Amino acid sequence: MITKVLQEAINDQINKEFFSSYLYLSMAAYFEDKNLPGFAHWMRRQADEEREHGMKFYDFLVERGSRVTLKAIDTPKTDWKSSLEVFDEVAGHEAKVTASINALYELALKEKDYPAQVMLQWFITEQVEEEKNAADILANLKLIEDRGPAVLMLDHRLGKRGSG
Ligand code: FEO
Repeated sequence: MITKVLQEAINDQINKEFFSSYLYLSMAAYFEDKNLPGFAHWMRRQADEEREHGMKFYDFLVERGSRVTLKAIDTPKTDWKSSLEVFDEVAGHEAKVTASINALYELALKEKDYPAQVMLQWFITEQVEEEKNAADILANLKLIEDRGPAVLMLDHRLGKRGSG
């Protein structure tokens, strides 16, 4: 049985993952408005992935006979100054999520919850990829600055993102 403190922390993490999904969907809407469908597509995929992350935690609680309690999702930001500012925020947001996952892992160690430790190892690996993806696109945008043709080429590439 999961301890109460760990159950509450995982329920909080479900909320954070769903907020991430909502934030990326809001960023997708921003890019749709800027006529950058590739960037919007990338953000939609990212939003889908965050929902899947939330559901992994949800299913973990269910499998362990523990209670899922959903909370209100905060309103995400809706506007940014530039594509670069958006990806700067993605990178910062993912760094916060990594810190949150690491704290959950620490708690699972403290509570001696071995199944939670195994489940969280997947997320620890996933966060390395999440941070890298954001950092790579941010680096591209810094290189491009606001040069239209290069932005369109990046938009084309981001539009090819598959699931995952
Ligand atoms: Fe669920 Fe982007 O980490």
